[in-house]
Amino acid sequence: MLTREFLPSESLDSVFLPIEQASGLPNQCYTDTASFDFERNQVMARNWVAIAFENTLQDNCVHPIDFMGIPLLLTRSKHDRIRVFHNVCSHRGMRLVSEPRKISGLITCQYHAWTYSVDGDLVATPNIGGIGINALPDFECTGKGLKEIRSHIWMGVIFINLDGQAPAFEQVQKPAIQRTRELIGKSGERELITSQEDRIDMVVNCNWKLVAENYLEAYHLPVIHPLLNRYSPLKDHHCRIYGHNMAGQWTTTFNPGLDDRNHLPVFSDWDREMLMIGEYPVIYPNLLMGIQANHIFMGILHPLEVDRTREEFQIFYCGDESLGKPCDRVRADNRLAWSKVFQEDVEPCERMQAGRRSPGYTGGSFSPMLDVCAHHFHQWIAGHYHPKSGKTSHKTDIDQDSVDGTRQC
Ligand code: FES
Ligand SMILES: [Fe+2]
Repeated sequence: MLTREFLPSESLDSVFLPIEQASGLPNQCYTDTASFDFERNQVMARNWVAIAFENTLQDNCVHPIDFMGIPLLLTRSKHDRIRVFHNVCSHRGMRLVSEPRKISGLITCQYHAWTYSVDGDLVATPNIGGIGINALPDFECTGKGLKEIRSHIWMGVIFINLDGQAPAFEQVQKPAIQRTRELIGKSGERELITSQEDRIDMVVNCNWKLVAENYLEAYHLPVIHPLLNRYSPLKDHHCRIYGHNMAGQWTTTFNPGLDDRNHLPVFSDWDREMLMIGEYPVIYPNLLMGIQANHIFMGILHPLEVDRTREEFQIFYCGDESLGKPCDRVRADNRLAWSKVFQEDVEPCERMQAGRRSPGYTGGSFSPMLDVCAHHFHQWIAGHYHPKSGKTSHKTDIDQDSVDGTRQC
């Protein structure tokens, strides 16, 4: 296992100070390939990490995904359950599937033709005992199937826990599940609907954490998003720490009437007094969420290299009617509007990455009012590097600036 010694614990002491005196994570966390490997093994692998959208996996297909260099395979079992496996053949270790492909119930390795079921069982080993001898008395297929990874689906997103040791998803992500349910209601999850057109995909030349940090604050709104800031000004955005691994901003300026003629349907259980609420949390480590009365977007951060990240967004709407012809234009406009906002964030993220190469920068400072969530995230990450080096200076599980002034999570 990679040691954390490339980053002395003293270099994180200042991250754990109260926000007024704190500095951020050291530059190595953004530029050193050792930190990329460390975060894969110690941050991502130990938590529930988002890897794909449910609708990525087409019917009767298997779908390979690389997550931080680890080859994974999505399959749909006979009982229609999505499963995630290590995408490697048990024989000589070839990556089993390279492209999404249609299968008829079996996955055959294209090297020596060992064959697996969609449930991962090894079911055929042609010629294993010589030409025409497909089985051997001493060779048991049982236990030599594909290695499954613990997975969970929530809100159309597939999550995995690579080391298999994290508490249950429902426990770890309770604040996210609870808050989302408070907003969209019990029926909200069943109403979610989306299509392949409602996707935004982009690559940013920066470390994945900079994308998350940028999303965690609205401080940059007036400079980077002047148009958005006109109808959703900074003064109406508020920081909120929902729990140990969830923070973000919320606003009261969301306008659900995107189009005067064609309104998108609103979640049936959404409180009609709160139609203008928009919440924009990060579900640590790598899921960005945008929750509004008539649509939700989810953004998965795929760290590709220490300084390159893919952002994959999927926009979900409410009920079949949302995907009907009359809503096509308003959905396309909505996708375009969010694409523009996300695109505006690219240059600052890439320039922050460039700044992390400067010996003149050592973590910087935070605004005690507007960078609260970013600082919370830094402390969460730093706690994985050196668990004993400090405790978060933020109160967690407390709605710091709640909509109705009560405890929410
Ligand atoms: S490596 Fe897959 S069958 Fe040999
Ligand atoms: Fe932004």
